[in-house]
Amino acid sequence: MTAQHPLRGDVAVLVPAAGMGTRLGPGGPKALRDLGGTSLLAHAVRRLSRADAVGCVVVAAPAGHRDEVAAALAGEVAAPAELIVVDGGETRQHSVAAALAAVPPEFGIVLVHDAARALVPPSLVQRVAAAVRDGHDAVIPVLPLVDTVKQVDDSGHVIGTVDRSVLRAVQTPQGFRRSVLEAAHRAAVDALTDDAGLVEKLGVRVMCVPGSEAALKITRPHDLAVAEILLRAGA
Ligand code: CTP
Ligand code: MG
Repeated sequence: MTAQHPLRGDVAVLVPAAGMGTRLGPGGPKALRDLGGTSLLAHAVRRLSRADAVGCVVVAAPAGHRDEVAAALAGEVAAPAELIVVDGGETRQHSVAAALAAVPPEFGIVLVHDAARALVPPSLVQRVAAAVRDGHDAVIPVLPLVDTVKQVDDSGHVIGTVDRSVLRAVQTPQGFRRSVLEAAHRAAVDALTDDAGLVEKLGVRVMCVPGSEAALKITRPHDLAVAEILLRAGA
């Protein structure tokens, strides 16, 4: 397995961070909000750049915050890895496309990681990157579902119980051969919540690797409270 001999710094990571955090409540762009004295975005970028595979981090910043974000993150990406900050777009997909367009030509593997998953472990980044390097065109980290899942109709009545064993909850970073991600974004017509969804539409097979509880997505106030506990516990 090439994973035993990981190349250093052959991966670019895109960090869409331009969302408003509406579900978290008032307080400005979510990526710039505080978690234990540090912004969610700085937590994410720090952890991403701790992964040996990562040679470049491209952040899509919230509208009007590009310079502030570039200054705040300057110390978070250690040389020789490079930090690039671009303006985000109207939707997550636009933000990812803007970041992708700024990736320097030498990077053949691209990961996409939501700033909202601030406590991503560097080991998860390495795992996803290694699977792409091993030949998978598209790789997603997943967790099994814990809740029972039911299909429900408009009136609130249950139609049926879904077989949970075939379902997975999907996280980021998602990893791609660069040409595959570029083709997926060129072909994109619908707005989807993840990049692997765009790649699936091209007919490309997507490989799953184990995700991490620490990479939870901070969406609502409850998630921020959980992240604070995880941080205090050493995540
Ligand atoms: N994102 C982005 N550009 C947008 C919208 C979202 O870069 N126009 C980013 C967010 O900053 C986040 C990731 O996409 O890191 C996942 O989005 P989500 O968790 O939905 O964050 P928000 O859009 O900020 O939250 P909400 O939907 O509650 O407003
Ligand atoms: Mg959103």
